[in-house]
Amino acid sequence: MKQVRLDLVGMEMGSKNEVLLLTKEQIHSVLTMEDTIRVVEEGFKAFNSGKTVIPFPIGMQIQENRGEVHIKPGYLKRSETYCIKIASGFYNNPKIGLPSSGGMILLFDARTGVPRSLLIDRGFITDMRTAGAGALAARCLAKKSIETAAVIGTGTQARLQIEALSKVRNFRVLKVWGRNPANVKRYVEDMRQKLTAEIVPVGSTKDAVENSEVVVTATPSTSPLVKTEWVGEGIHITAMGADSPEKQELETGVLGIADKIVVDSVEQCVRLGEVHHAVEDGTISVEDIHAELGEILLGQKRGREREEEITVCDLTGIAAQDVVTSQLVYERALKAKMGSYITI
Ligand SMILES: NC(=O)c1ccc[n+]([C@@H]2O[C@H](COP(=O)([O-])OP(=O)(O)OC[C@H]3O[C@@H](n4cnc5c(N)ncnc54)[C@H](O)[C@@H]3O)[C@@H](O)[C@H]2O)c1
Repeated sequence: MKQVRLDLVGMEMGSKNEVLLLTKEQIHSVLTMEDTIRVVEEGFKAFNSGKTVIPFPIGMQIQENRGEVHIKPGYLKRSETYCIKIASGFYNNPKIGLPSSGGMILLFDARTGVPRSLLIDRGFITDMRTAGAGALAARCLAKKSIETAAVIGTGTQARLQIEALSKVRNFRVLKVWGRNPANVKRYVEDMRQKLTAEIVPVGSTKDAVENSEVVVTATPSTSPLVKTEWVGEGIHITAMGADSPEKQELETGVLGIADKIVVDSVEQCVRLGEVHHAVEDGTISVEDIHAELGEILLGQKRGREREEEITVCDLTGIAAQDVVTSQLVYERALKAKMGSYITI
């Protein structure tokens, strides 16, 4: 059969009937945190420049297994490919030795709809692009100079968010709170390899939040873990765990006292994130949202302006992050002649 070859930014793709299959390990080998932060910034900027097509995501609950599935399609206008991501979180998985996040991303040719690549990343691209967003939120909103950061949760995001934070801010102390002491211990051991900061387990979320300058909340909690009265001047909070309507990590009062509330997407956060709860109970209105992150990155709106400001960034995860990150992985894999092809 005659095989037609297409060119993608000067690199050779498979034939029209071939789909490049990439495993998590291969994806891991071509994607660094620095790259992720860089492309995710471009994704947010594109999103706020009208250069993306991002339909509202589909969420499906598998309640009996504490599972959820998110389907996010995304297209960056004039790019060669579009993506559809199927990402899952099954929160009983750690008990049986499996990571909670999973899934895969499909990349299609934007000219023909023909599948180009199946990135079986088992949630890795989601994990990385979410951490990238956290780093950008801190870069825009945290004080320039900080001593103490804190993380609530000890799972995948608690690790990657802090690794990403360390790329944009130096901090001397990291406080960590988790429900399970064995997980906290493992977290401290693992993160010692990644950070120069002193890592201090704390006994309560109150201890984590009080006197911290950056706090990252990274759990699927459905009841608030951060109380308003613990939130002091100058703090920046990135709340990234709540990405579906039933999840909530911050008391709505935290958004009520914030000088600046920033979101990745207003449309998503009013339906899925922390903002959703605060709007619903009347603590804030949609007009109280200061900006979408991309607007700050584009210089259209201000990030932190004063040392004492309280800032909150609500992240629910947008497909613009997925599309730019998976395109980067695809391009790098093609260049490295990595992966295997399946014929369809
Ligand atoms: N905003 C986004 O773009 C985005 C992207 C990826 C993941 N997420 C969300 O972030 C959260 C964390 O994801 P992850 O991959 O790190 O999960 P994980 O399972 O690896 O870690 C979750 C952590 O939260 C703790 N936890 C679970 N339930 C809790 C509760 N009720 N109270 C306190 N702690 C609790 C667990 O013990 C664990 O330490 C999830 O809700 C996930 O859906 C959001």
